[in-house]
Amino acid sequence: MAQSGTDAQRDTWTSNRGFILAAIGSAVGLGNIWRFPGVAYESGGGAFLIPYLIALITAGIPILFLDYGIGHRFRGSAPLALRRLHRRAEGIGWFQTMLLFIISIYYAAVIAWSMSFFYFSFGTKWGSDTQNFFLNDYLHAADPGISSELVAGVAWPLALVWVLIIIVLATGISGGVEKVNVIGIPLLVLGFGALVIRALTLPGATDGLNALFTPDWGALTDLDVWIAAYSQIFFSMSIAFGIMIAYASFQRRKANMTSSGLVVGFANSSFEILAGIGVFSALGFLAHQQGVAVDQLEGLTGPILSFVTFPAVISQMPGSALFGALFFGSLVIAGFTSLVSLVVGVSVALQEKFGLSQRTAAVSVGVVCAAFSFGLFATTTGLVALDTVDMFANNVGVVTSAIVMCVTVVWLARRGELLRLHLNTVSTFKLGRWWIPLVGVFAPVFLTVMLVQKLRELIVDGYEGYPDWYIGVFGWGTVVLAVVVAAGLALTGWKGRDDPAFVAWPPLEGAKR
Ligand code: PFF
Repeated sequence: MAQSGTDAQRDTWTSNRGFILAAIGSAVGLGNIWRFPGVAYESGGGAFLIPYLIALITAGIPILFLDYGIGHRFRGSAPLALRRLHRRAEGIGWFQTMLLFIISIYYAAVIAWSMSFFYFSFGTKWGSDTQNFFLNDYLHAADPGISSELVAGVAWPLALVWVLIIIVLATGISGGVEKVNVIGIPLLVLGFGALVIRALTLPGATDGLNALFTPDWGALTDLDVWIAAYSQIFFSMSIAFGIMIAYASFQRRKANMTSSGLVVGFANSSFEILAGIGVFSALGFLAHQQGVAVDQLEGLTGPILSFVTFPAVISQMPGSALFGALFFGSLVIAGFTSLVSLVVGVSVALQEKFGLSQRTAAVSVGVVCAAFSFGLFATTTGLVALDTVDMFANNVGVVTSAIVMCVTVVWLARRGELLRLHLNTVSTFKLGRWWIPLVGVFAPVFLTVMLVQKLRELIVDGYEGYPDWYIGVFGWGTVVLAVVVAAGLALTGWKGRDDPAFVAWPPLEGAKR
């Protein structure tokens, strides 16, 4: 299956709705619920919405279109599609595939924690000291290092996550991946919608919203705030990771690509803002209960927000079990549909390269990912490893991927205009000529400034005070590993069908400009 470029053999989404829901499923994930609210709060509150929306319009949507164009025109996962775009570009696809692999192995661990906390919600099993519960009782968290001590409470749900992922992937794109999203996304919108409505009716909710949305205009002159906005957009929209290339390649030839892209982009950002509203209303309630101001609360970002602060909110509420179940249930569903996309990206890439069957690729990739996921993130050092790998994969890895991809497509392969015409031929929302300088000049220049600043910061200050050797292995090591493996795979001969005759598209001469 799915080894050649012809549609007869390629697994495809059964409808445009299936594609849109799957793309939203990939985009809406842990990033929306646990990352966005805290990042917005720390980076200027209401004023953050300005860099955020600018990042969405100047880089998010244009690069999403670039991913769609590459995947839909060249009909393959990132390595195959980029190889067809330009012989020497395959390695970029493998670098992106490595990022997917790296993110999937820690992302799965967070879904496992969410499953446990879903269960703990019934009876608020975390007690009154939620920080102690999460770090000590649940994770048995140790200092940065390498540990072989598995944490049973994490390992069991993690095993379940990987078994489910293997089943979904082995069932195929239309059979498994699409169904999970068609069921999961409406369920998520209902469940999370109910949570937000409940949160808004809690005493103190307005204080939380004021804390989140009161603009700090001074933040707009801070380069770090802009960097935070662009990084959030990339991770959140799942762009420049290769996965949107693969998802677009499963779209039928007659498909309205750019209009779907707009729906996906705006749906993702709307969910993100909705999550901000829900989370901060609940934090306002917590502050109200404790008789403090919202800015005196601690732990408003990342894992601590979801697994320490939120349980404290839940404990304070009447009807806590339902609220807890809605919150952690939403994390599980949002996370799972994103994890499916991460692993699909890896599996399809290897399937095409080595001419494997869908099932063989799904099972072997699932088993290898699971092994790394257990070894690194289900042990007592999992939390620190996750924090470090996440930081480097997203702030260094994906930004590099985006820069190299934009420059290669527009300047080295000179395929920008072809992709623009292609997208315009199949879509109703037409891309003007402005799209090429946006992806070819503005985005790479801005992203390079951002990358240099981030690298300087990491080299000078390190990260979170973790020891140098640790940052070397888990931080820089992650990026170096991705580059080395990508180069190795790109240099390995293509074993599956590369089908140079696949380009069955009609010529684009008559296309609307
Ligand atoms: N977009 C997902 C989130 O916001 O949590 C994470 C993600 C999924 C990133 C898939 C990259 C990816 F390819």
